Amino acid sequence: MLKYPLFIVFEGIDGSGKSTQCDLLFRHAGSTGVPAVRLAEPTEGEWGIKIREMLKGSEMAPAEEQLRLFLLDRQHDAETNIRPSMKNGTTVIMDRYYYSNAAYQGAAGLSPRHIMEENRRMGFPEPDRVYFIDITPEEAVRRVSGRRTKKEEVFEKEFFLKRVRDIFFSLAEDSFLIIDGSAGIEEIFGIIRNDFDELVRSR
Ligand code: ADP
Ligand code: TYD
Repeated sequence: MLKYPLFIVFEGIDGSGKSTQCDLLFRHAGSTGVPAVRLAEPTEGEWGIKIREMLKGSEMAPAEEQLRLFLLDRQHDAETNIRPSMKNGTTVIMDRYYYSNAAYQGAAGLSPRHIMEENRRMGFPEPDRVYFIDITPEEAVRRVSGRRTKKEEVFEKEFFLKRVRDIFFSLAEDSFLIIDGSAGIEEIFGIIRNDFDELVRSR
């Protein structure tokens, strides 16, 4: 068990491969003796359910209201999942976090900087590493429309995802590792695994 557990976040536009890589990293952590939990935002909680209803609907809430809902969901997630896990030494592997908030609600019209400030003001834990998996909006739409079981969500439009992607790049800080998401799943995971193992060794 690590004395100081890691907080790992995956970011990227829809269809970039975050869930796939989260699953692989979660299994890898377990098999190398690093206790870990896999979380995602929006969550499965009360606010997350409201958000998913909004995303499936044809009428999108105003950007300010979107921000409010995602902040409430994150607050609940931090209180009930993220902090308690880290407190007992469990590494957190997170599918989306506040950079998605800045990128998507930024693309919906708010200031990305303002959104980051709001999140920091609320004192949410800071990730040790952000794996930003980058694909083009064209590829994103191709991959997402292949998910036949899923109704297209409001954010899954090429022009919108282009804005989201540009904002993600503008948010990149030291904790970011930017990965070319057009590579194969195993190749991408190789990069993530090496980096993660290095982070574990540094703990
Ligand atoms: P996200 O969680 O970012 O929306 P997913 O992991 O659900 O993305 O992947 C979206 C789709 O793309 C899935 O059908 C998945 O199998 C496929 N996929 C994931 N990674 C790759 C990759 N590196 N190359 C090609 N297809 C991929
Ligand atoms: P998710 O289920 O992770 O989508 P996907 O698997 O397609 O990547 O997230 C649903 C949507 O929620 C996604 O389009 C991004 C959006 N989102 C925000 O707009 N703001 C946020 O703060 C978060 C966490 C997600």
